[in-house]
Amino acid sequence: MAEKIQIGVLGSGTMGNGIAQIAATQGHDVIIVDNNEEALVNASKKLQKIFTRLVEKKRMTTEEMQASISRTTYTTDFESLSNSKLIIEAIVEDLNVKQQVFEKLENIVSEDCILATNTSSLSVTAVASGCKKDSRVLGIHFFNPAPLMPLVEIVPGLATDEQTLQNAKQIIDSWGKTVVIAKDTPGFIVNRIARPFYGESIRILEEGVADVATIDWALKEYGFRMGPFELMDLIGNDVNYKVTCSVFAAFFYDQRYKPSFTQQRLVEARRYGRKSGHGYYSYAENAQKPEA
Ligand code: NAI
Repeated sequence: MAEKIQIGVLGSGTMGNGIAQIAATQGHDVIIVDNNEEALVNASKKLQKIFTRLVEKKRMTTEEMQASISRTTYTTDFESLSNSKLIIEAIVEDLNVKQQVFEKLENIVSEDCILATNTSSLSVTAVASGCKKDSRVLGIHFFNPAPLMPLVEIVPGLATDEQTLQNAKQIIDSWGKTVVIAKDTPGFIVNRIARPFYGESIRILEEGVADVATIDWALKEYGFRMGPFELMDLIGNDVNYKVTCSVFAAFFYDQRYKPSFTQQRLVEARRYGRKSGHGYYSYAENAQKPEA
């Protein structure tokens, strides 16, 4: 197990909360910062629920659950990240917002704090570009659901130094994850390959080759763990659409990565997938009203 440093997580959504769960389970103190109070309350409740389920399934003891919960702090106060040694940012997939947040973080954290972005598609080099010490910034890209998915892509930006890369890798290795180091190119490895996978699935749907459930079923029968539409609903259609648009632009509008109207309309209708209760499928039983 790695040294018990304080881990900061920025963003308490799907990914931030999953990353926080891993870090707390690994014995770290975890500070989760979000600018949305409601998101923090929901995330905290969700984490409690997940831990309770793990206890029921005897995958953790009640004492371990209580210890993990007591190690996590949910707050809107950025200043509380001042003692963190690694901060993993998992906020909205928007370059300007991420750049602003990284610049802000630099004024709060200590010299030796590693700053990581969980971006799926943006340039790590660009995210780091406004930082005075850009050598400490890199990509640490978890997959959804973070606690269950073994793979983590670690992406050094143009300015990232070797020590930062090795220190980050050591921490993520110690969490039992499988690390692959990828060059800072749009979508890195997995998301680059995944773009045409989702895109072609939507095109097949639009051409009327088969319906959503049939395409998902066929792919699963073929050996995929989840169908493309189930997966997009899990990722969040808002997040997935943003990633598609960003990879499309980053490849100078190469048609292979072109987004679709179907995806765009779902986002406009706030049919984000599981998290909003509707997406390609309906999850009406535990539907939550999407944020405005
Ligand atoms: P999400 O929409 O579930 O959560 C984002 C959270 O960030 C929200 O709670 C929001 O209130 C907060 N936030 C937004 N702007 C903020 C700011 N300026 N300061 C503080 N908090 C802010 O998003 P999700 O899905 O967790 O994605 C987060 C990042 O992780 C994105 O960069 C995304 O591309 C990446 N990612 C997403 C995956 C997925 O399957 N959803 C998989 C891997 C990476």
